[in-house]
Amino acid sequence: MSYSLPPGKTWELLAKHHASISRTNLTDMFAADPNRAKRFSIEFGPLYVDYSKNRLNNETITLLAQLARENELHEAIDTLYSGAIVNYSENRAALHTALRGGRENPYVDMELNREIEHEFNRMSILHEQLHSGVLTGYSGRSINTIVNIGIGGSDLGPRLLTTAFGKPDISKPSIHFVTNMDPADIQSTLTQCDPETTLFIISSKSFSTFETRHNFSTARDWLAHAGCPDDSSWQHFAAATANAEAAVHTGIAAERVFRFWDWVGGRYSVWSAAGLAAFLTVGPAHFREFLAGAARVDRHFQDAPVESNIPAMLGLIGCWYINLFDYKSHAIVPYDQHLAYLPDYLCQLVMESNGKSVTLDGQAVEWSTAPVTWGGIGSNAQHSFFQALHQGTQIIPVDFLIGLRNNCNTNDQHAELFASCLAQSRALMTGNDHDTPHRQYPGNRPSNTLIYEELSPEVLGSILAIYEHKTFVQSLLWRINPFDQWGVELGKSIAGELSTVLKSSETGTDEYDGSTRELLRRYRSANN
Ligand code: F6P
Repeated sequence: MSYSLPPGKTWELLAKHHASISRTNLTDMFAADPNRAKRFSIEFGPLYVDYSKNRLNNETITLLAQLARENELHEAIDTLYSGAIVNYSENRAALHTALRGGRENPYVDMELNREIEHEFNRMSILHEQLHSGVLTGYSGRSINTIVNIGIGGSDLGPRLLTTAFGKPDISKPSIHFVTNMDPADIQSTLTQCDPETTLFIISSKSFSTFETRHNFSTARDWLAHAGCPDDSSWQHFAAATANAEAAVHTGIAAERVFRFWDWVGGRYSVWSAAGLAAFLTVGPAHFREFLAGAARVDRHFQDAPVESNIPAMLGLIGCWYINLFDYKSHAIVPYDQHLAYLPDYLCQLVMESNGKSVTLDGQAVEWSTAPVTWGGIGSNAQHSFFQALHQGTQIIPVDFLIGLRNNCNTNDQHAELFASCLAQSRALMTGNDHDTPHRQYPGNRPSNTLIYEELSPEVLGSILAIYEHKTFVQSLLWRINPFDQWGVELGKSIAGELSTVLKSSETGTDEYDGSTRELLRRYRSANN
C-alpha cells in the first residue's frame, strides 16, 4: 500500500522501514529481546509509560526522533511557550501553559502572572464563602448546590476533574453539570436542586454559545418561577468567561465574573476559571496540585530529549500508525472509574485540535490527520467494544491507563482490575492459534500502558498535559493549526436559519434540499 506522507526525507526513510517492520511480530520481538520492556518505556515521577507493545524497534525510534528534529520540535515548543501567535487563523497565542507554571514559568511576565494569580485568589475567596456557608441565595439560606452550565471545553474539563476528585460527601455542596441543548438535561438536573440554595456557573469562553445561553435562560426562568425576586437573582449566578463584558451585560454581578483570556482555547481551558466548578469542589490546594502536575510535564516536554520525552514519543508513535500503517482510530481505555470522562475529554482535545485538512499555509493536506479518538472505561469496555479490538478487521491502537493502587481499600478487587487491564494488552499482542476460526485472535495489535502510583490531582494534571502536548507534536508533523476549530461553524449557522424555519409555518423551505425539506415538514406538522 502507498500513502501520501507529509514532506520530508525522514518520512521517506520511515516508509521504507515500515515495509520491514510490517513483517515482524510483537511477540517474537519480545522473545528476541529480554530488555525490550525496559528499553521502550519512560519513567517520569509517579508515571510510567510502557510503549514496548508497539510495532517498533530501535531503528524506528531513531527515525522517529530524527523526524521530530527535522520538524524542529524543540524550537516549536519554545515558540508555543513564549506566547507568540501560533493560532494563525485567529491571530492568537495558545498560552495555556502560562496558567499552570506559576512564578517559575520564565515565559510569563510579572504582569500576566499577577492577573492569573488575581483570578485564582478570587476563585479561592468564592470557595471559602461557599464552604463556610456565607454564600447565600435569595431567601438567605446558604448555597449548597452548584450547577455548571457549559459545553465542550467549558464542560468536559471541570466535569472530568470533579468526577475524579469531588468525592460525594453530604457535608459538601453537591455538583451537577448541564451541557446539552436537549431540555431533558437541564430539566432532570433542576428536579434535584432547590432554587433557594443553588448557584449556577455559566461557563463559556465566548459567552455566546447557543446551548449555554439557552440553558442559562431556562435556569433564570426556573428561579423566577420559584419566587426569586429579580433583584436577588444575581446571588444565584457566577460566570467563567473571556468575555466579561457580555456576562455583566446579562446581569451577572461583576464580582461574580471570573475571567480568562482569549489565548486560552476552549479545550485547553480547564486550568483557568473555566475550571471554576471543579475548583469549588476540589478546593484551591488540590487545584494547585493539578496545575503543578501539568507544569511538571510542560518542563519535561521542553527539556527531555525526544527519545525519553513522553508526549513526543506518544505523538510520534501515533503518527507512525496513522500515516504509515493507516490505522485511523485510537481508543483510550482508563481502568479507573475516576477517569470515566477522560475518553470524552480526549475526544474533543484530539479531534477538535487536529481534525483538519488544510495546512498552515492553506494547502490541502494529502496525508491523514487526527485519528478517530474514543474509548470507555475498563473493565466495562471489555463487555462492549473489546470484541472489535481483538477480532475486528480494523486495527485500533489502545492506550490503557491504570493506577498501581487505588484508595478504595478493596485491594483484592483492585488486583482483579489490574489483572484485567494487563490481560487485555497481552491478549491484543499475543493473540492465539486456535483450531476454530471464530476463536482465533490474530494478535500483533499495539497498545501503550500508562501507569501511575495512585490517581491524584497532580497525576491527572500530568496526564492531561501529556495528551495536550502529544496533540501538539502531531499537529507539527502534519503542518496544521491545532488551536482553531472552524469546522464547527457551518453547522451552527445553518442551525440558526433552520430554527427560524421550524418556528414559523409561513417560512418557505424551497431553498433546501429534498431531505432537509421533508424532515422540516414532518417536524412542523408534528408541532404546529
Ligand atoms: O464547539 C466549538 C467550541 O468553541 C469549543 O471549542 C468550545 O469548547 C465550546 O464550543 C464551548 O465554547 P464556549 O466556551 O465559548 O461556550
